[in-house]
Amino acid sequence: MPASRTVEVLPTSADLFHAAAEEFVRAGNAAIARHDRFTVALSGGSTPKTLYSLLAKEHARFTWRKTFLFFGDERHVPPDHPESNYRMVNESLLTKISMPPKNVHRVPAENRDAHAAAAEYEENLHKFFELRTGEFPVFDLILLGLGTDGHTASLFPNSQALKEQSRLVVANWVEKFNAYRITFTYPVLNHASEVLFLASGADKVQVVSVVLEGENNPPYPAQRVRPTDGKLLWMLDQAAADRLIS
Ligand code: 6PG
Repeated sequence: MPASRTVEVLPTSADLFHAAAEEFVRAGNAAIARHDRFTVALSGGSTPKTLYSLLAKEHARFTWRKTFLFFGDERHVPPDHPESNYRMVNESLLTKISMPPKNVHRVPAENRDAHAAAAEYEENLHKFFELRTGEFPVFDLILLGLGTDGHTASLFPNSQALKEQSRLVVANWVEKFNAYRITFTYPVLNHASEVLFLASGADKVQVVSVVLEGENNPPYPAQRVRPTDGKLLWMLDQAAADRLIS
């Protein structure tokens, strides 16, 4: 079991994203008070876009200059591609706040060689966190989403990256997309000080109930995110939480 797991259910998706924005800012201020910087890995997909827009709109005065943004995963596409998580974050957040460009660490996914892109991003983590061999970065906050197949970041069921225990970032072949994704591995996710899962909407109700209260054999990838010495927080709207018992 992780150090602590909390599940917060908000009545509506609007309430969910407001609460998530408050949690982002709370975690950020606590990290900056603790060690004068806030390291956060963002999630992609459609769910967090509203959160990023809200952060830009309601928290433009947050201490972005002491915030360092990374990406928990990325599609193997250039940064201007419609599928790019970086593009989504750039349009919904970065272009609307004043953050030093050097604070944004995007995945170099334009590199046609996905393995080389993953290795370069891993090197970036090593340098930024000044890691010695065998050490893992400790992010202050990692945002994660949840796919209806139980995947998170780009750790998909039955994919190679699920087995990775020493690399920080890998290129993961995803059969159903016939493409690579570049993703953080479990050791990075499970060394975080806080992991915040966001799930919204009725289409997530089944997978949420299995991930939080059910058994799946093998476990869904999201069920293996258990920060060893950190906080695990699930924020859901009622529509996604409707089948939860407790
Ligand atoms: C990505 C994400 C992925 C996402 C889930 C949920 O790059 O797609 O990082 O893990 O969080 O697929 O996606 P939705 O929010 O679109 O349902």
